[in-house]
Amino acid sequence: MAEVIIVKDEDEAGEIYAEAVLRLFKEKSDPVLGLATGSSPLAAYRHLAKRLQREGINTENVRGFALDEYAGLDPQHPQSYRSTINRTVVEPLHLNPELVRVPNGNLDTIQTAGADYDAAIAKAGGVDIQILGIGTDGHIGFNEPGSSLASGTRIKTLTEQTRIDNARFFDNDVTKVPTHCITQGIGTILKARHLILLAFGEGKAQAISETVEGGISSFCPASALQLHPHATIIVDEAAGGRLRNKDYYKWAFKNKPEWQGI
Ligand code: F6R
Repeated sequence: MAEVIIVKDEDEAGEIYAEAVLRLFKEKSDPVLGLATGSSPLAAYRHLAKRLQREGINTENVRGFALDEYAGLDPQHPQSYRSTINRTVVEPLHLNPELVRVPNGNLDTIQTAGADYDAAIAKAGGVDIQILGIGTDGHIGFNEPGSSLASGTRIKTLTEQTRIDNARFFDNDVTKVPTHCITQGIGTILKARHLILLAFGEGKAQAISETVEGGISSFCPASALQLHPHATIIVDEAAGGRLRNKDYYKWAFKNKPEWQGI
């Protein structure tokens, strides 16, 4: 079972993420981070940036792989995931932009871009820590319900719900949200050595309950985390509101030896 940590807010979750990444950076000279866009990881990136600065840690060898990108959207577009990752991760963490990759959504090469991306991740030695958000429908990356749990990086069609959820980044106009994307597959995500999924707010409560305590099903793509040997799911009270075993998760975390980390 994944470890479930119930926190009071996004800042507490961010501190836990930053601590895990700091440990990794101290152990490994060329760490590989798996990166996500969306609102869920923003506090985590902020806390990580603060810790790196406070402890004077050099990040020039850090490599990164983002989960996904819109298909056919100019990478220079402010809402492309390339631009978003640059703004929210590369700049505040002072990473080398050349070492941080985002799937290539160029329509001319999209048929081979997925396999190329998976090969690049493998060549880098795999992802050490993958941060994840979760969609209201249980998606991770852009793997919508019904996605193969063994999938590699590939082109996918976004659901209407995801396009509605993301319209806030496109002038609240759903017609401006691209219809297709290229995303790491669930099989790709499961190869990362440590998965940290963050979810906040009541809107995520149903998806979290299905992810943690439901059956493993491609209908809730995040439920694939149950197959992973090292998955950490960090939620606030609202997102964890429908968990049946909530008291046990709280007790287990409170009684965990500090040296163990997450
Ligand atoms: C982002 C991504 C998506 C989001 C998810 C939740 O790269 O792959 O799976 O993590 O849609 O989005 P937020 O965090 O904005 O609620």
